[in-house]
Amino acid sequence: MDARNVTVVKLTSPEQLKDAYEVRVDVFVHEQGVPVEIEVDEHDATADHWIAYYEEPGASRVAVGTVRLVKYDATLSALKLARFCVKKAYRSLGIGRLLLETIDQYARDNDIERIYMHAQQDKVGFYEKNGYQVYDADLFFEGGIPHVKMDKQFSKA
Ligand SMILES: CC(C)(COP(=O)(O)OP(=O)(O)OC[C@H]1O[C@@H](n2cnc3c(N)ncnc32)[C@H](O)[C@@H]1OP(=O)(O)O)[C@@H](O)C(=O)NCCC(=O)NCCS
Repeated sequence: MDARNVTVVKLTSPEQLKDAYEVRVDVFVHEQGVPVEIEVDEHDATADHWIAYYEEPGASRVAVGTVRLVKYDATLSALKLARFCVKKAYRSLGIGRLLLETIDQYARDNDIERIYMHAQQDKVGFYEKNGYQVYDADLFFEGGIPHVKMDKQFSKA
């Protein structure tokens, strides 16, 4: 497999949202054991979503990764990153980094000052490699998984 066969697109159709759900259920529900009833929520309808598609020459494309950004506070120039995942068979190819670079660019293009998240504790090293830092190290549980709070600041152009 080769990350050059990956395209990241911003979701524009209900079919693409189904693709994102398929990836999320595969990773969070089946792999990590998160209850399906908390995996899909009301914020999906208003969030911006991105999907990574993998396509080999001559084959149909398959959704392999996704991430969403939600604006919880209209008065702040901040977005919450969530539902970020890459299917197991496609990891360590740079697809996660590509998704984060895509939303970095989106943040810069839209004068977003900060992206924050509830990060799974064992992913802190991965996010630090991608420019995020822990701003609250107090552990808390979501879906039975320990999390800490991380963010990334973007300076205004
Ligand atoms: C986290 C996740 C999205 C990363 O996706 P990915 O496509 O494998 O990421 P990339 O290929 O861009 O990056 C892999 C790099 O990060 C490193 N890495 C991966 N997990 C890491 C971790 N927990 N701590 C430190 N480094 C880590 C890899 O060693 C690799 O490093 P290298 O480029 O120096 O070889 C993926 O592991 C995943 O979907 N996990 C399950 C869902 C999940 O936990 N999502 C995050 C919820 S907060």
